[in-house]
Amino acid sequence: MKIPFSKISCNGNELKYVTDVLESGWLTTAEKTFEFERKIANYVGAKYACAVNSCTAALHLGLEALGVTYGDKVFVPDMTFTATAEVIRYLGADPVFLDVEYGTSLITPEILEQAILQYPDVKHLIIVHFGGQACEMTNEQKNGIIDLCQRNQIKVMEDAAHAFPSKWQGKYIGTFGDITCFSFYANKTITTGEGGMLLTDNEEIIKRAKTMRLHGINRDVWDRFTSEKPSWEYDVVAPGFKYNMPDISAAIGLAQLEVAEELRLKRQSIALLYFENLKNIECIDLPLVKVKFEDHSWHLFTITLNHKCKVNRNECIEALSSKGIGTSVHYKPLHRMTYYQNKYQLKPCDFPVSENIWQGTLSLPIYPDMNINEVEYVCNVLKETLS
Ligand SMILES: Cc1ncc(COP(=O)(O)O)c(C=O)c1O
Repeated sequence: MKIPFSKISCNGNELKYVTDVLESGWLTTAEKTFEFERKIANYVGAKYACAVNSCTAALHLGLEALGVTYGDKVFVPDMTFTATAEVIRYLGADPVFLDVEYGTSLITPEILEQAILQYPDVKHLIIVHFGGQACEMTNEQKNGIIDLCQRNQIKVMEDAAHAFPSKWQGKYIGTFGDITCFSFYANKTITTGEGGMLLTDNEEIIKRAKTMRLHGINRDVWDRFTSEKPSWEYDVVAPGFKYNMPDISAAIGLAQLEVAEELRLKRQSIALLYFENLKNIECIDLPLVKVKFEDHSWHLFTITLNHKCKVNRNECIEALSSKGIGTSVHYKPLHRMTYYQNKYQLKPCDFPVSENIWQGTLSLPIYPDMNINEVEYVCNVLKETLS
């Protein structure tokens, strides 16, 4: 059997909507993108959305719109993809890396509370809803992440690259923090090939993000080549970026959005099968799920080989690969990356939990069209490898 780590599922209206765009004679940002923005905003209940060509772009625009600048500090999890932290450096600010919770790889309110005590001058936080599971945003005791941030005047940006459509206590991720950023990269829960979206309820933030996504131009000029009115006149109010989403991508996204819950459910059923098949293996720690299963988008199914395991993570990956099974690692933590390590003198002993996760973690294949036989095959090969 050949089982890739991930596989896109494009069985809906993708081709039809892309054909509509090709036949419209206008390939870059226009009506399909605006429709995609409206529909994603409606879906999660946010007021405004700004479609861009990656989640990285959305994160960059978001921090810029929040006013993060040279010399500022921003809390960020150590256990994440480099995009979450690199955007802080784009603006000349500095990340303050936080360790995460074992089993979820999330920043918890307890971790954040400690960090606030240690770094009272940090006024921005980026959280990551790892693998599709939301962080503890709010709770009855009013000491969730958002509660803590409100009490300490900390602005929150949610890196929700893994988390469409995820929920916290039944409410969609997209409106808890000041800004939420989704990724529609090729391996994400819904995709546009490459793409991302910034969501916010704040009018100033959306105005700034929309200006900066297209060269710092002060008004929408998408129609400047097609309009019958003289619409060439525009001003540049800041040195912006070139981050807009083309309509071809938005067309794919619109079709994916129509089946987002169906795709999520299929992923969920695969996760359930993994839990069932792997539950009694002593040397594997399964993902710790603290949300309801239906609130999880199941982007990843990440296991950790613990100290009882006779093979190490790399040997396990090789054994699976030799049997045709693709896996991945989420993540080699940022404290182990040369750039961050050297620039901020990061040491593994400062991140004991993410270091521990990293030593044993691997992510198993999970994608909507994976069938029961394939899941069982992965589980059987894994069991053989570890026995
Ligand atoms: C946690 C996280 N944040 C941000 C990104 C960046 O997403 P994009 O490739 O859309 O820029 C990724 C990509 O995998 C990610 O995993």
